Amino acid sequence: MYAEKAIIGETGKLGAGAATRLYWQRFSVPFEYPVAFTRHLFAPENTLLADVVVLREAEKRHKCLVYVDDGLAAARPGLIPAIVAYFDAHAARMELLEAPHLAPGGERIKCELTHIEAVQDTIHRLGVDRHSFVIAVGGGAVLDAVGLAAATAHRGVRHIRAPSTVLSQNDSGVGVKNAVNLNGVKNFIGAFAPPWAVLNDFELLGSLAPRDRRAGIAEAIKVALIRDGDFFAWLEANADRLATFEPAAEEQMIRRSAELHMRQIAHGGDPFELGSARPLDFGHWSAHRLEGLTHNHLSHGEAVAIGVALDARYSVLSGLLAEGEEVRVAALLEHLGLRLWHPALVRSGAGGAPAILTGLREFREHLGGELTVTLLARIGEGVEVHAMDHALVMQSIDWLRAREGG
Ligand SMILES: NC(=O)c1ccc[n+]([C@@H]2O[C@H](COP(=O)([O-])OP(=O)(O)OC[C@H]3O[C@@H](n4cnc5c(N)ncnc54)[C@H](O)[C@@H]3O)[C@@H](O)[C@H]2O)c1
Ligand SMILES: [Zn+2]
Repeated sequence: MYAEKAIIGETGKLGAGAATRLYWQRFSVPFEYPVAFTRHLFAPENTLLADVVVLREAEKRHKCLVYVDDGLAAARPGLIPAIVAYFDAHAARMELLEAPHLAPGGERIKCELTHIEAVQDTIHRLGVDRHSFVIAVGGGAVLDAVGLAAATAHRGVRHIRAPSTVLSQNDSGVGVKNAVNLNGVKNFIGAFAPPWAVLNDFELLGSLAPRDRRAGIAEAIKVALIRDGDFFAWLEANADRLATFEPAAEEQMIRRSAELHMRQIAHGGDPFELGSARPLDFGHWSAHRLEGLTHNHLSHGEAVAIGVALDARYSVLSGLLAEGEEVRVAALLEHLGLRLWHPALVRSGAGGAPAILTGLREFREHLGGELTVTLLARIGEGVEVHAMDHALVMQSIDWLRAREGG
């Protein structure tokens, strides 16, 4: 039953006159999903996945379609047979509709819409319905793309994420966003769609290339800088252990980062980014642009490392952050082996202006409304600003170049 709106003030705001009949629709939908950290997700004796599938309907056998990142599958030839064996072991609860599909790993899956269509075609062909599951095992790019296909087929089929990279376990996998790129514009086509569950298997990280393993730490540093100064100090104190991928340190870093991302989404007041701020995207206005300018030669995490250092220096130059704090940020990133310089930072764009600056416009357009960029008031505390001084941005870039010795 619809309720007629009786709030005079708001009726007046809409200019309702005698000829207007105004109803005010309002409802809210609570979202919840489990986020688990485990080992050997597909070992038959690990019942986590099977338990999650029957979470809300125990009495039936659930249809599942599985996508595996092809980079992950190549690094772990035993994985796909293990997934098939897992479904055999839990056949009473879950049915594997077809042998697991390979999904192109890395940013290339996000650069061609045909990959989304292929997943949607398969969903259709196999009769995957809203009560069936699409399970994606892979890095952030595969999760973003398969998640988007799942979110849009039948207006949303159940989607389980099994992130297999540091970045997707400590940031993207636990969130509510899915997206692919259009004509080089990062994450232009996407949807907010909370997953059914997120199942992180630490064991999968062992086969990740050092470059990707390292790059993911940038997102943990990002969230520490805007939300948790103690975590930043912990990252500094454990930089040696993190730089050598010591599992205990890596896992602690991932869990704390995932917790902070989850907290922001659940309690930050704007999980679907209806306002103009993207607090979790500190350092990202330039990072997204750098990914495009380098044709993804820089990975997302590598670009975020540069973006975070740039905005830390900018925070100092604009008087928000105490001098010297940006040196801590840059030193930590460098200690972990992340480079803070790329020539694309000073490439000229249309009209001769630095191409990087277009990132500010694209960042604003993505959300609409006023430009809102998160900077640092101190380590552990973000602050929003609504304008960036181009000259100070270029001075910050000079500072990065000087650190590189260029
Ligand atoms: N949705 C969100 O909220 C959100 C947040 C942050 C980042 N992202 C997106 O995530 C993407 C980056 O994700 P990423 O850092 O996980 O990298 P990625 O998905 O690009 O994967 C990097 C490489 O690692 C391979 N790989 C994955 N897991 C492996 C494993 N365990 N062993 C061996 N190889 C493996 C992949 O095939 C790929 O070649 C970007 O597109 C970024 O925009 C999304
Ligand atoms: Zn990011």
